[in-house]
Amino acid sequence: MKKLSPSMLSADFGELNSQIEIIERAGAQYLHIDVMDGVFVPNISFGAPVYKCIRKNSGLVFDVHLMITEPIRYIEDFVKAGADIVNFHVEAAEDPGKTIEKIRSFGVKAGITIKPNTPVSAVEKYLDKVDLVLVMTVEPGFGGQKLIPECLKKITELKKIRGERGLSYEIEVDGGVGLGNLREVMESGSDVIVAGSAVFGADDIGKTVREMLDIIREYD
Ligand code: DX5
Ligand code: ZN
Repeated sequence: MKKLSPSMLSADFGELNSQIEIIERAGAQYLHIDVMDGVFVPNISFGAPVYKCIRKNSGLVFDVHLMITEPIRYIEDFVKAGADIVNFHVEAAEDPGKTIEKIRSFGVKAGITIKPNTPVSAVEKYLDKVDLVLVMTVEPGFGGQKLIPECLKKITELKKIRGERGLSYEIEVDGGVGLGNLREVMESGSDVIVAGSAVFGADDIGKTVREMLDIIREYD
């Protein structure tokens, strides 16, 4: 089943519990949680204690996207705070293989992430070890940017490799996705759709989630 993963980065942090309840009621399956350290990306967001506070009120799959240098140092903290999926950047990890092993040792799913200029070949040797591949369609660091269409080719490439090698990872797309380009994104073969400003910047958050899910479900 294809999924919507609204990105908390664009939520009103003063209204987190109620906004997350709205997206959950509207049918979103995942919650995308962007952790930034101000080193790997030029921005700081929030850390594990923040999403730990919403864990007790939400049954959503916590899809944590680490934009931090040497993520292996903090995997345990992120899992203990309630992550169900831990995504890290191949560009940020000294030993991606060990990082995947460490994530899976805690019984959660491991995702590997690539920036717009990183080719699929950079993660090819890890594809049989991950549960998810996250393809960035904007430079990581900020919400509200425009999707870079060339990046969608990598999603199609990953789908092809998955079929050829009989693998089962999900392919997630992150950056600049909204109602206006959702069909194009779905056509590329994405399984999990991240949307930050398109959801939390909307006048009616619940209605936007439902409208996006209506389109996403056509591709199941
Ligand atoms: C960017 C983050 C994204 C961001 C997406 O570094 O990884 O998850 O929240 O925001 P939109 O959907 O507004 O591009
Ligand atoms: Zn993200």
